[in-house]
Amino acid sequence: VSIHARIYLDHNATTPLVAAAREAMAAALDIAGNPSSVHREGRRARHVVETARDQVAALFGAGRDEVVFTSGGTEANRVGIAGLAAGRPVACAPIEHPSVLGAAGPGVVRIPVDGDGRIDGDAAVRAARAGAAVVAIAAVNHELGVVQDLAAVAAAVRSAGAHVHVDAVQAAGKLPLAPLLAVADTVAISAHKLGGPPGAGALWIRPGVELAVSGGHQEKGRRPGTENVVGIAGFGAAAAAADVAAWPAVVALGEHLELGLRRLGARIHGGGAPRVGGTINAGFPDALGESIVIALDLAGVATSTGAACTSGTIAPSPVLLALGLDETEARRAIRFSLGRANTRDEIDRALGMLPGILDTARR
Ligand SMILES: Cc1ncc(COP(=O)(O)O)c(C=O)c1O
Repeated sequence: VSIHARIYLDHNATTPLVAAAREAMAAALDIAGNPSSVHREGRRARHVVETARDQVAALFGAGRDEVVFTSGGTEANRVGIAGLAAGRPVACAPIEHPSVLGAAGPGVVRIPVDGDGRIDGDAAVRAARAGAAVVAIAAVNHELGVVQDLAAVAAAVRSAGAHVHVDAVQAAGKLPLAPLLAVADTVAISAHKLGGPPGAGALWIRPGVELAVSGGHQEKGRRPGTENVVGIAGFGAAAAAADVAAWPAVVALGEHLELGLRRLGARIHGGGAPRVGGTINAGFPDALGESIVIALDLAGVATSTGAACTSGTIAPSPVLLALGLDETEARRAIRFSLGRANTRDEIDRALGMLPGILDTARR
């Protein structure tokens, strides 16, 4: 057991709360009003929600009327995809997050990916021509960090007559969102992936695009239900603190880690495609990812075998299987995902532990 603090390398699962978000949430906890009430307490709560809406709109680079708050990335994906589809078929790649696959429904049209996780743009256009009403694409893949060529694919899909929903949950805070808004109809983000709390998210909706939803009046009827004032307050503050200009430093740390992993014999999944940086999905010969994750955890390092929602199950990652890995190869995967607070010293310490941990995992 080391004297050092733990080393957190699982930021794609969730990120630590930033100080500004903590403060905004603490202040919002004491507001008694419902944001829909007309009295002073209600107006205070409304002010918190609308301040956060301005902050999230600024992160999107969009107008405040175009931003709808949701209970997270999962619901933002569902409101966008189901709202655009209105019961018609949806197309997406098998590497998408379970929340996208779930919203796309059982009739989903599958778009193939190559061995590095790049989606086949021509297949996406063919799906649109064949009647898919919506094509859903993650700007950045949660397990691989692969960045899709959305400028090309989304424009072609939209000119073929389909809507485009972009899951930007793993892109927000790392890449500018404006280029995504330029080609999408709806864009989903999540607070807890950028320093805000879990349980808050947002959907950007292109002006003029109508979503099929029903229920109460909140969020102009686009997402009914009393707003999560505290979570939204934290989300707004985190959005305001997000800084894509700080991301290249995380990319550099990730490159340092990746080099060290390659020297230890790792294969990098998605390594041939453009990636956002800071997310490294590696496989070591003859070592189960799960064993490495457990041993690293005991040694003080938090990592993942893939999407957090699939951990605890024995099934290999569907993302890696879609890349063409066989089950054994997919079970070797370990995902390191870095954040702004990580240091070079932490990466070096984690790398220093790995040879011994790999020995144990191989036994
Ligand atoms: C790409 C992607 N989309 C959607 C989600 C879901 O977001 P949330 O946890 O806020 O529901 C996640 C989080 O795991 C994600 O990584």
